[in-house]
Amino acid sequence: MIDNKRKKLVLGIETSCDETGLAIVEKEKEKPPKILVNLIFSQNQIHSQTKGVVPEIAAREQVAKIFPMLQDLKKKIPFKNIDYIGVTAGPGLIGSLLVGINLAKTLSYSFKKPLIAVNHLSAHLYSAFLYNREMEFPAIGLIVSGGHTSLVLMKSHREIKLLGQTLDDAAGEAFDKVAALLNLGYPGGPAIEKAAQVADQKRELFFLPRPLIDQNNLNFSFSGLKTAVLRETKKKRLTQQEMSQLAWEFQEAVVEVLVEKLSQARLKTGVSRAILGGGVVANQRLREKIGREKEVIIPPLKLSTDNGAMVAARASYLAELGEKIDWRDIKVRPALPL
Ligand code: KG4
Ligand code: ZN
Repeated sequence: MIDNKRKKLVLGIETSCDETGLAIVEKEKEKPPKILVNLIFSQNQIHSQTKGVVPEIAAREQVAKIFPMLQDLKKKIPFKNIDYIGVTAGPGLIGSLLVGINLAKTLSYSFKKPLIAVNHLSAHLYSAFLYNREMEFPAIGLIVSGGHTSLVLMKSHREIKLLGQTLDDAAGEAFDKVAALLNLGYPGGPAIEKAAQVADQKRELFFLPRPLIDQNNLNFSFSGLKTAVLRETKKKRLTQQEMSQLAWEFQEAVVEVLVEKLSQARLKTGVSRAILGGGVVANQRLREKIGREKEVIIPPLKLSTDNGAMVAARASYLAELGEKIDWRDIKVRPALPL
């Protein structure tokens, strides 16, 4: 049977960590996807009590929230109108991923809709293309999230090659750990950002390292930076103002490294177009500094952290490439590489 429908509707399901995301995008060939619905439930408040995500609690909350969200989604667009179902298959927390995958399998089987397995990391790079912007290749991708910090070369929708990544902690993880050290709360990124806003913003009090910044490679390392912050907190009892100053210096260190490594990646590959993705891209200081560079595409704030729309967007391009998977064959992949 020939399918002549010009516009396809793609459902995106995201449950790789503590956000529950369900979204529907509309995709027309040779045009960027458009968001029709984007529902997100964040568990930040729950995990702020434990200063970090507790996987078992995250998965239980996913189970509790995803069905009421599905009911809301159904009121806006009936399932029968959906053409494809995209779901995050990994990387992420196994319990959380299983919630999304099992829902996707059930919907695919019950409504006879093709299923598409989506890599969470590549999905982050598709957030920037949900607003009237068609993706062009080649492009450098910089993914900065809670679990990953990676530079990639995007040659096409199919070909995404890893150029470098963190050797230890991810940038977001460092934000979370440093915020916990300074007692600023969870998630650490927004907490550090807020503390840094009231700092003097002068480099007189603290001098933190810029790890690997001068090394001729595209790797990152953030665990030493966290140890350097810990050392400062051990030297003496810090005042509130000093704490903010330390948060500011830490944020500067991370942002400088990210900006410099992206610039090295552009030089090394000769590719100037760059796309950013991942929760840390919500950071205003990073947006401001990296935004000064030419040809850098930054997703809107709301779409930087985990959401279903980026999964639906990535799935909408994979659907055009014919990358479907039978519901019986999709597997949860907690350590899925790019
Ligand atoms: O992409 P994401 O939502 O989830 C993962 O795939 O990991 O990223 C979450 C990470 C957390 O570590 C969080 O602290 C960080 O993104 N983050 C930020 C900001 N907002 C979230 N980091 C720095 N500044 C922010 N404003
Ligand atoms: Zn993410």
